[in-house]
Amino acid sequence: MSYPYQIRSIEEYQQAWRDSVTDPEGFWANIADHFYWRKKWDKVLDWNFRDPEIKWFQGAKLNITENCLDRHLGTLGNQPAIIWEPNDPEEHHRVITYRDLYNKVCQFANVLKNNGVKKGDRVCIYMGMIPELAIAVLACARIGAIHSVVFGGFSAQSIADRIQDAQCNVVITCDGAFRGAKDIPLKSVIDDALMACPSVKRVIVCTRTRTPVSMLKGRDVWWEDEIKKVETMGNPACPAEEMDAEDMLFILYTSGSTGKPKGVVHTCGGYMVYSNYTFVNTFQYQPREVYFCTADIGWITGHSYIVYGPLSAGATTLMFEGVPTYPDAGRFWDIVDKFRVNILYTAPTAIRSLMSFGLGPVNHKDLSSITKLGSVGEPINEEAWHWFKDHIGKGKAPIVDTWWQTETGGIMITPIAGITPEKPGFATLPLPGIQPILVDENGKEVEGNGVNGNLCIKFPWPGMLRTTYGDHERCRKTYFSTYDNLYFTGDGCTRDEDGYYRITGRVDDVLNVSGHRIGTAEVENAINMHHGVVESAVVGYPHDIKGQGIYAFVILEKQTHDQELTRKDILQTVSRIIGPIAKPDKIQFVSGVPKTRSGKIMRRILRKIAEGDAENLGDTSTLLDPGVVDDIKQGRL
Ligand code: WTA
Repeated sequence: MSYPYQIRSIEEYQQAWRDSVTDPEGFWANIADHFYWRKKWDKVLDWNFRDPEIKWFQGAKLNITENCLDRHLGTLGNQPAIIWEPNDPEEHHRVITYRDLYNKVCQFANVLKNNGVKKGDRVCIYMGMIPELAIAVLACARIGAIHSVVFGGFSAQSIADRIQDAQCNVVITCDGAFRGAKDIPLKSVIDDALMACPSVKRVIVCTRTRTPVSMLKGRDVWWEDEIKKVETMGNPACPAEEMDAEDMLFILYTSGSTGKPKGVVHTCGGYMVYSNYTFVNTFQYQPREVYFCTADIGWITGHSYIVYGPLSAGATTLMFEGVPTYPDAGRFWDIVDKFRVNILYTAPTAIRSLMSFGLGPVNHKDLSSITKLGSVGEPINEEAWHWFKDHIGKGKAPIVDTWWQTETGGIMITPIAGITPEKPGFATLPLPGIQPILVDENGKEVEGNGVNGNLCIKFPWPGMLRTTYGDHERCRKTYFSTYDNLYFTGDGCTRDEDGYYRITGRVDDVLNVSGHRIGTAEVENAINMHHGVVESAVVGYPHDIKGQGIYAFVILEKQTHDQELTRKDILQTVSRIIGPIAKPDKIQFVSGVPKTRSGKIMRRILRKIAEGDAENLGDTSTLLDPGVVDDIKQGRL
């Protein structure tokens, strides 16, 4: 496959960016021309940020899986589409060619149809990182069902919330998942979740761990049995459903500053073009390169840069079931060595964690195949950047520090590998089609270089979210109402003297823990559900490995005799309500939290204390009871 829209030099980049601003419709139409559409669009773009209403490639008909699979069969049929490396290095890896993948997706799409799944139905997918997860995702897209993948680390309660919100009627899961030394009992978690989800009529269970599971008659079926049934029917092909460019492709839940996660909606046409364009350009993908993104498909990075971006580009995408430190901290490097990985895309938290093991696990691994490196999910500190550059890229491979969000669908601000001069800690420049702008609190544009502001985007791009599922008003309020006529990212940002962008972190009440977004309000709600808790306040603090840690200040009804046990009980509650990823790193029991006279918690003060900067609390004149602050300072953990 060749990519006529692949940028080859910094001049080409600058030209493309200018073109995308002067004639966005012409720019994107030229790129979209290189995809397979059943019918081309009547209009490239229709939009306003007031409602908001965003429509790309209106009138066009397509199926994204024909672009990810069918169109490659002639030329790439025998090329590996997915290379899968299991959790246990002793277990055999799998190589799935484009033809195999096509067959498997068609087969499972037929299974879905046999089980009554129709276009527009919502299907919840809760699986570990096995090829069947990618197959399930693509099979949904094949028949026009809307997938909602839920990360395997979320609790039954979180899954139930997501299933109810989207009114899913089918769940696809596994008996269990292997993650490092642990087995996660996925089916049993689903069973708990489904007690509160009458909309679910069918659960399809794929075998992975052979953990005993209960299979409810009439509701639960085995993946393998269902495949056999369609095989005996003889016809493995499954015609792709014809979709409108603006039909929903998937829902992915993500945390915001309120207690309830929202279902970010992406649509077929724009998302396809954008995930592909950004993949091909950012990583400068060359045919036959082996590309390894270490994310989980439960997050947007996995959707866009393990599944849709690479596959629509005919790339070889490596999918890894395990964790970076199992069986030891050399696992990534073993995988790079074993499969001659060319492009490695990972998260700063993983880099920092591996750094902490020293160079032992890196030495003597052959990393000479690596030509490009990528980072995503949180700001990358300079130390981690240099370690990645020197020890993994051997000083030669460019690093792309890619800034983007679940809502943006694809990479927004990033160096183009080997083309944009890089600067540690900087996401550098916007991709073509992206018009960033910095504003102050009042929404006034901050112009020029060497400035700070809140990061907004002033013009639509094809991969942007269209709505939040079932609640369009929430989408408008969250992203389009803070500043007039702008999409607000929630991130703070610097533009330096060279015009380079550096993302400084969230300016709202969203934490970024190990690259995972967690709302402080969500964690507080979970803590407050614990028996005996009167109130809580949650803030982030700098954490060496996770980037941000979770610090909870908790007021109990009465003194507890065993603080340690109560602390553990609270952690257990948070695990149950949200999942282990949201467990606070520190819980401090306090008699009160600082509030304004109108009763608002002054998080700014708590944040300072948690960060260990209690001497610079700033203006405390509006505090209701200044004594509370001294108590908290003294009890700091
Ligand atoms: C943060 C992940 C700095 C940012 C793709 C954003 C980053 C949030 C970077 C989105 C980066 C992501 N540098 N910060 N390169 N990439 N972020 O939705 O705060 O899980 O708003 O999407 O992660 O997280 P999400």
